[in-house]
Amino acid sequence: MVIYFSGTGNSKSVAMQMAKATKDNVKSITDMDGTINLQQGEYLGIVIPTYFYWVPSVVKEFLENVKIECSEDVYIYCIATCGGTSGQASQMVGKLLKKKGKCVNAYFDIVMPDNWTPMFNANNLEEISRVLEKEKPQIDRIVEHVLRKENGNFVKHKLPFTLAKMASLLYEPSRKTSHLHVESQCVGCGICEKNCPVKAIEIRDGKPVWVKDKCTMCLGCLHRCPAFAIQYGKNTKKHGQYNHP
Ligand SMILES: Cc1cc2nc3c(=O)[nH]c(=O)nc-3n(C[C@H](O)[C@H](O)[C@H](O)COP(=O)(O)O)c2cc1C
Ligand code: SF4
Ligand code: SF4
Repeated sequence: MVIYFSGTGNSKSVAMQMAKATKDNVKSITDMDGTINLQQGEYLGIVIPTYFYWVPSVVKEFLENVKIECSEDVYIYCIATCGGTSGQASQMVGKLLKKKGKCVNAYFDIVMPDNWTPMFNANNLEEISRVLEKEKPQIDRIVEHVLRKENGNFVKHKLPFTLAKMASLLYEPSRKTSHLHVESQCVGCGICEKNCPVKAIEIRDGKPVWVKDKCTMCLGCLHRCPAFAIQYGKNTKKHGQYNHP
């Protein structure tokens, strides 16, 4: 089984390709009931995006609460997708699973287009295609390790733990939904409400309202809005939208 969380499709794409290679099922953690049942000799792949060199809050909460029923010989691997530096995201999954008595066998990361548009520009389509061209070779490398059931830390874009931990402190303040706002071109389609993984949005009088103080800040609402009406702070409007093709 390959499980994933994804705001804009990068991690979903990687999870689907890994599942195809290992002939496994693929599931979003947002569609799961909090249990994972694995048969003898199966793989468990966990694919997540990197947030501030760490794990998204929704992934942390899922892994803290999930019940995993499996035998000792299940091979567990984690892949963190990132825009350039995954820091400690992949390894943090290992730490969270260790608390449940499960051992991650291998850690990986994959560089994908960066969807953190408060900083990065998603308008440069040539650059995005250039990055996406490297998706398949990076997955092929990981598939080789996984099919051989190799153990190890194969993360290529890591940061020392202390540095990543310090940078990750910026995630909590960034999660405040007060950074998000809707502009007048909103057409009231409800896509943002329907897809928010933490149910932080409700449509009221035809417009989204953020009903939680904090969300996991996947930016899915901003990037998927057909009217590009949702913005985060002041910079995202000039940086465009990104969704994995
Ligand atoms: C809140 C947030 C924080 C991010 N922090 C990082 C980061 O620390 N390092 C990095 O390389 N990319 C970072 N990114 C970029 C994403 O990790 C990257 O684009 C990822 O592939 C998105 O996956 P998804 O499309 O499955 O949501 C961040 C994105 C978001 C939304
Ligand atoms: S997805 Fe965009 S257009 Fe649709 S309701 Fe949300 S903000 Fe409005
Ligand atoms: S409100 Fe938007 S950014 Fe926050 S979790 Fe929901 S979809 Fe993601």
